Amino acid sequence: MSIAKDWSPTSWRRKPALQQPAYPDPRRLEIVMEELAHLPPLVTSWEVEHLKSQLAEAARGERFLLQGGDCAETFADCTSSVIADKLKILLQMSLVLTHGLRRRIIRVGRFAGQYAKPRSEDMETRGDMTLPSYRGELVNRAPYTLADRTPNPELLLRGYERAALTINFIRSLIDGGFADLHHPEYWDLGWVQHSPLAEEYHRIVNAIGDSLSFLEQISGRPVNETSRVDYFTSHEGLLLVYEQAQTRRVPHRAGWYNLSTHIPWIGMRTAQPGGAHVEYFRGIANPIGMKVGPGMAAETLLELAEILDPDREPGRLTLIHRFGHKRIAEGLPPLLDVLRRAGRTPLWVCDPMHGNSEATSTGLKTRRFENILSELQQAFDIHVDAGSYLGGVHFELTGENVTECIGGARGLTEDDLRRSYNTHVDPRLNYEQALEMALLIARRAAQSPRQSLRVAV
Ligand code: PEP
Ligand code: CO
Repeated sequence: MSIAKDWSPTSWRRKPALQQPAYPDPRRLEIVMEELAHLPPLVTSWEVEHLKSQLAEAARGERFLLQGGDCAETFADCTSSVIADKLKILLQMSLVLTHGLRRRIIRVGRFAGQYAKPRSEDMETRGDMTLPSYRGELVNRAPYTLADRTPNPELLLRGYERAALTINFIRSLIDGGFADLHHPEYWDLGWVQHSPLAEEYHRIVNAIGDSLSFLEQISGRPVNETSRVDYFTSHEGLLLVYEQAQTRRVPHRAGWYNLSTHIPWIGMRTAQPGGAHVEYFRGIANPIGMKVGPGMAAETLLELAEILDPDREPGRLTLIHRFGHKRIAEGLPPLLDVLRRAGRTPLWVCDPMHGNSEATSTGLKTRRFENILSELQQAFDIHVDAGSYLGGVHFELTGENVTECIGGARGLTEDDLRRSYNTHVDPRLNYEQALEMALLIARRAAQSPRQSLRVAV
């Protein structure tokens, strides 16, 4: 990509920056940023470019992106079992999707840095006390005390270290053979035997195992490429001081890379053409994501695409739409249309989670499985009708047995939410609901082949 004009890792500071905390000790913040900038990066520019070329293939209908993980990671969840279970559910889903969609899957975790959250209010009032809102553990802590809620620059370092531990463990598992297709039992989650979905899942696993051994028998050698898989990371690029500190030049390549993650994304609340986030993102060489949804005019989207991807670089821009099941039919087509008419072919991804949040009668935030599925199914059809291609899905999920979303094969009800509601921010699909979602996408692709056909845009 060409180097952006009048851009530097700090040029965002000249623009209005939404959703940033007010640090009471700016000097301490500067010292921490300096320290962060000197630590080794979490990812390399080779990996980042490799992902970009895979995303370009997905935009052409040749691959499919599975992006998933927590709404907000927490430091306490940086444990071997939580990380391994998240990896397992993503591997299981990707296996099911490969089989159903007949495409290679790009796996991108919402992890190793998903620690900063946008909030609707800067301050929170309880009784006669008003404190800064909780903005994720990269910024402050959730307990309602002044000490916890005061933005603390040290947390930037703690978050970076947790991200490094997470990515290190994931790499080690994968390099050690954890994701080997010959051994899907390595990533069986304990529940699989007891699940109503077990049979369908195991049928797919066995079918893939049979195809592998058939190929190996006729070729007389092991099918390489099946023993390890690529795994990429992503997080919302919200806290600009953190992102700035990770923005580096690398030898032998032009441009600036954000080396804290492979694909950062711009959240819906910070996607203003004149805003600081768009300014920061336009100058980095990574592939970038952007959330789009209700309230974004088609012309604004076109303007943003021109700012963020002036060269129309393949794989550069991933647009993650999140309208909600009631609004997608009306909201999505004009966005597809404006970019198609401009000759632009971003990778389109559906996030069926964020437009479908609702509160229960007791005030808990939840999402209904049927609404999530409905948005997803509509998204596939709308893209086909528009001559476009839905090249990926974006879920909030966990490998644990939480009860945060209602519905699914086990029919979780509002009452079940009391049992294991652990999220600090948005409700996630539990492992069973997440796998079911993948099975339903795969089943649907098998029933309607036009969806799995490559569609020229
Ligand atoms: C999120 O992905 O957790 C999020 C805040 O999404 P959105 O920007 O779409 O609200
Ligand atoms: Co969320």
